[in-house]
Amino acid sequence: MNTLTQMVAAALPLVLVLVDAAAAQESKVMLKEGAGREKVMQCAVCHSLDYIQMNSPFLNKAGWNASVTKMIDVYGAPIPKEDVEVIVNYLVQNYGKSTDK
Ligand code: HEC
Repeated sequence: MNTLTQMVAAALPLVLVLVDAAAAQESKVMLKEGAGREKVMQCAVCHSLDYIQMNSPFLNKAGWNASVTKMIDVYGAPIPKEDVEVIVNYLVQNYGKSTDK
């Protein structure tokens, strides 16, 4: 092993720790407890879960359905079709426009 390899090998665990810390930070935006929450965590692959909170005053069931569908069709979100209903139900229950509950 040359010195460079040794340095890289030594630095690697540190990098992993930092990446881990960043991921933990991101997940600080906590979604409300509820059925299907773990599926909704898939939304955090691309952007902060803030987006869900920010849009909760505006979106009813049709709105959330359209939004989730758009994430998949337009942005290519890797979310299985069978999860869509669970996710939309969770969003309506916990982050739906209040008149819709
Ligand atoms: C493949 C990446 C990806 C995934 C996964 C994803 N989104 Fe998005 N989302 C985007 C992009 C790109 C935008 C628009 C650009 C921006 O403003 O960052 C966006 C924007 C949004 C917005 C803002 C309003 C809008 O329509 O532009 C909401 C709300 C939203 N996403 C909700 C969700 C929800 C809920 C999920 C999980 C079901 C999800 N996203 C998963 C990529 C993704």
